[in-house]
Amino acid sequence: MTHAAVIGVGSYLPEHVLTNADLARMVETSDEWIVTRTGIRERRMVGPDEMTSDLAARAGERALADANIAPEKVDLLVVGTSTPDMAFPSTACLTQAKLGLTCPAYDLNAACTGFIFALQHATAAIESGRAKTVLVIGADALTRLVDFTDRSTCVLFGDGAGAFVLQASKEQGVLGVHLGSDGHGADLLYAQTTAPVPADAFLKMNGNEVFKFAVRAIPKVTRQALRESHLTVDDVTWFVPHQANQRILDTIADRLGVPHERVVSTIERTGNTSSASIPLAIDGLYTAGNLKSGDILVLVGFGAGLTWGAAVVRWTKKEIS
Ligand code: UT7
Repeated sequence: MTHAAVIGVGSYLPEHVLTNADLARMVETSDEWIVTRTGIRERRMVGPDEMTSDLAARAGERALADANIAPEKVDLLVVGTSTPDMAFPSTACLTQAKLGLTCPAYDLNAACTGFIFALQHATAAIESGRAKTVLVIGADALTRLVDFTDRSTCVLFGDGAGAFVLQASKEQGVLGVHLGSDGHGADLLYAQTTAPVPADAFLKMNGNEVFKFAVRAIPKVTRQALRESHLTVDDVTWFVPHQANQRILDTIADRLGVPHERVVSTIERTGNTSSASIPLAIDGLYTAGNLKSGDILVLVGFGAGLTWGAAVVRWTKKEIS
């Protein structure tokens, strides 16, 4: 049987830093409230001419360079995003052109869980023999949808992109993936960009309900994906959850019964970068030299939809030197 393994990783954050102090000049908030309630100190924000496809292309370029793969060798590009540059063409097509790829390219929208859904899709394409090398990107520019007069949401989100190159392999890199969706929760977190009423274009969220959903869903889907991979939480080297709130990360560590230091956190410097947060966190681990061949990672996300999903990955790349 052909398996899928990660052979390259890359990420990109836009240059402009938006601090809590900057936000405190825009809405009635404080660094103290934001840090205590969320763990976020700063986030990155796209420039006026910078689009999601620009972030995606930068992350994709770095992942391809890390894998030492030429653009013409990529068989498929899947971009997980809920902030496309345009209604159409897809952000993936725009990214494909920027990267000089020639393969089929399309978007997949599972909101903040987008990278896990895209990873599942890429793995299935490789395991079925339909593709050999797939570039999977999670990219979002949520600051474009955020209402900068709504303090309950504008402090949370940032922009960025992260990417994996997956390739057919004898070694099983992606061990198991478990996904879920429940459209009954659609009104908890949404952005109605095609609505006729302009006020509805902005992101709206019932933060308390999304928080409760996250701390219920993440431990459950993590255990499901581990069970399907014939592993337990004790086998996991790193838990890499979607980065939405430090209190969510702490709660899920407690609920899973794992030490907090095994749950990766990047939230302080990035905020919630939606579908980019998981590959961004993994690239951070990798470039810091904290990933070894054989490590077991659980990538676990949740978001609008509602959607949730976990992937168990055996890291097969060598430690960065
Ligand atoms: O990718 C998935 C998307 N999102 C999430 O995962 C978010 C999940 N939810 C959360 O992270 C948290 O629910 C929030 C960070 C959004 C909110 O934290 P909270 O501790 O649940 O606060 P709250 O909504 O219960 O609000 C507590 C108080 C309220 O004031 P009163 O009614 O107690 O007087 C809010 O108006 O804090 C107020 N508040 C703020 N104060 C200062 C809300 N936002 C702010 C703010 N600065 N930015």
